[in-house]
Amino acid sequence: MLKIKIPATSANLGAGFDSLGLSLGMYNEVYMEESDHVNITSLDDIKVPQNESNLIYISAKRVYDICGKSLSGLTIKQKNNIPMTRGLGSSSACIIAGLVGANHMLNCPFSVDELVNMAAYIEGHPDNTTPALLGGIVTAVFDTQCVYWVKQEVDSHLKFFALIPDFELRTEVARGRLPEQVSHKDAVFNLSRAALFSASLLSGKYENLKEAVHDRLHQPYRMGLIKGCEQVFEATYKLGAYATYISGAGPTIMSIVDGKNSLFGLQIRRQLDEIGLSTWKVCELSIDNIGAQVLEQETI
Ligand code: HSE
Repeated sequence: MLKIKIPATSANLGAGFDSLGLSLGMYNEVYMEESDHVNITSLDDIKVPQNESNLIYISAKRVYDICGKSLSGLTIKQKNNIPMTRGLGSSSACIIAGLVGANHMLNCPFSVDELVNMAAYIEGHPDNTTPALLGGIVTAVFDTQCVYWVKQEVDSHLKFFALIPDFELRTEVARGRLPEQVSHKDAVFNLSRAALFSASLLSGKYENLKEAVHDRLHQPYRMGLIKGCEQVFEATYKLGAYATYISGAGPTIMSIVDGKNSLFGLQIRRQLDEIGLSTWKVCELSIDNIGAQVLEQETI
């Protein structure tokens, strides 16, 4: 079977709502082959849709449909290491698995740009799907048809700590909290910080990141959905984080930490326990600069 490895992603990066995202070293694995019927199984204890409503299947079928090829069925086996509905790009990983897998099975009729566009179309925004496909940090603008993107590699000595709550937060719910209109002042507040974030991360001016992740478009409206959010932000900064922000639509909180800060993981674990958040997981991740990979034909 074809094996596809797809990274987790962290979107928004503070001020870059729906436009900035980066890829992290935590991976879903999807095994896929054509079949005469739909046969979908989970390789772990995570329940996944086993019929045609499965997002990997939907995305693969879309590739076949656009190519005018019929698809009688697929065998899909999925290993779900990326926690679902937590702001770490699990749905984008499914979309990318389906698109990349189907494209490969059809001998690659679609270019990278076309896959980027299809993925953003299915997801509705490009800030998880694009880094899941390409790796690194991605700046992306989606005009509803086409994604204008730039991928850049990130210095791999930075560490990313995902502080993952034990509850789910659906993106629709978190997006439902956002105002329909914002002021000119708030728009300027965000666009200047989004630009500062990329430039600072990529040039190594990490002392700017704390200011750059401030935002007025989504985080203030979503914080109330994550119990303990403000205390967690404060704790991470006391422990020396360069920057802390709500990952994607939440509820995961992401801290960017210097590679030499070897105590951060242990100390933030202790702090979470002290503020009554002992059910939250602390997950240390590194940047993934590669993106989705079709690895090999494997028998499982
Ligand atoms: N940019 C998206 C949001 C990411 O914040 O709603 C979540 O999919």
